[in-house]
Amino acid sequence: MTVTCEPGYRESLPFDPFDPGFVRDPYPHYRRLHEKGPVGRAPGGWLYTVGYEESAALLRDPHVHTGGMRQLTTDVRRLVRHTPALSFLFMNPPQHDRLRRVVTGAFTPRVVARLEARVRHHVTDLLAPLHGRVELMSEFAFRLPLAVIGELLGLPEGDHAMLRGWTEALARGLDPDVLLTPTQRDARDDARESAFAYFRELARFRRRRPADDLISALAADPELPVARLPGLCTLIMSAGHETVANLIGNGYLALLRHPGQLRLLTERPDVVGNAVEELLRFDGPAQVAFRVPQRDTVVGDLIAPAGEPVTVMIAAANHDPRRVPEPHRLDIRRAARPTLGFGYGPHFCVGAALARMEGRIAFTALARMGGRLAGPVTYRENFVLRGLTALPVEFDRRD
Ligand code: HEM
Repeated sequence: MTVTCEPGYRESLPFDPFDPGFVRDPYPHYRRLHEKGPVGRAPGGWLYTVGYEESAALLRDPHVHTGGMRQLTTDVRRLVRHTPALSFLFMNPPQHDRLRRVVTGAFTPRVVARLEARVRHHVTDLLAPLHGRVELMSEFAFRLPLAVIGELLGLPEGDHAMLRGWTEALARGLDPDVLLTPTQRDARDDARESAFAYFRELARFRRRRPADDLISALAADPELPVARLPGLCTLIMSAGHETVANLIGNGYLALLRHPGQLRLLTERPDVVGNAVEELLRFDGPAQVAFRVPQRDTVVGDLIAPAGEPVTVMIAAANHDPRRVPEPHRLDIRRAARPTLGFGYGPHFCVGAALARMEGRIAFTALARMGGRLAGPVTYRENFVLRGLTALPVEFDRRD
């Protein structure tokens, strides 16, 4: 993996996020950080939290803002790029709350329950032709959430391949700019521009000819300024796609590597709700969130100075031994306690109910397919979102 970033980034974090060993398995690194304490400061830079309570406290503190990850630089006291936030993931109150309110209604548990039959249909449809040796990320994990979010938003199926290209560049671009090459930053910015133009055009069309989909509803919403619509749709599309694909990929890989747990899920499909929570905790897609305290803030036994970014290590917090006994053991029957896998506080994931439902249906169906790992897996180069590029699986032949 060849990553050329701004000099100094390696010292800014307590590990090198692109070291092949870290990419393969970051959890031993997190364990070492836990041994040093729940919060710390990397040798040359950023403050970080790995403790569950300390991380949750920062995420729920109304005086701690999300800074927009791309604004972070290696100089911890300086936020260079004061670009206005284009998606509400990076906004703060009151602007954030207004936009968030507009979309939460589209993802309530009741709305999500109505989508369940469609998700079952997509899962059956996508898995039916798979037997023998299969690359599961491209054949299933990426396709399912795109089919679901595409249908919900009302995106023509013929556009899916193009949308997939954009979400990939946007997901990579979630990393702070210091961890991206100039080419990756350009790819992210181009993808965002293309997606914005696409949604602007589609919303204009749906305003004239409404359909039974989320874009038509958003386009008709008087609460939503027209200029905000492309950012909102781009966020929903990419957040609803990349993350769920990685939940399925990381989660199924964990099950394949723990055949006893996979067997248990086959025999006891009723534990699948619990299994989704444990898989999200064990190796979830969202590894980090970045925050900037607006005033000096006590974090564990350190003070996070106002204006200085803090790296909140979500995935490490989910392995905090003070909260989870034997955190590195996968146990799908473990009494599920809330994790930080969907974030916490004002930015808690809007799509959590949908993601959980997709996870339950996908893992139940995969457990029935009798799969085995059929070769080495490869990971994408990404710090904020952890996920696979290839998951080779051998399914029992069903002909
Ligand atoms: C926010 C994780 C699925 C839409 C977040 C955050 C996390 C997260 C950690 C908070 C980020 C922060 O605090 O900085 C996940 C995971 C998913 C998933 C692990 C799947 C397993 C989805 C889906 C959708 C979605 C299916 C929509 C269809 C959003 C939105 C936000 C968000 C709109 C921004 C909320 C805000 O800023 O108020 N997600 N997500 N996510 N997620 Fe998800």
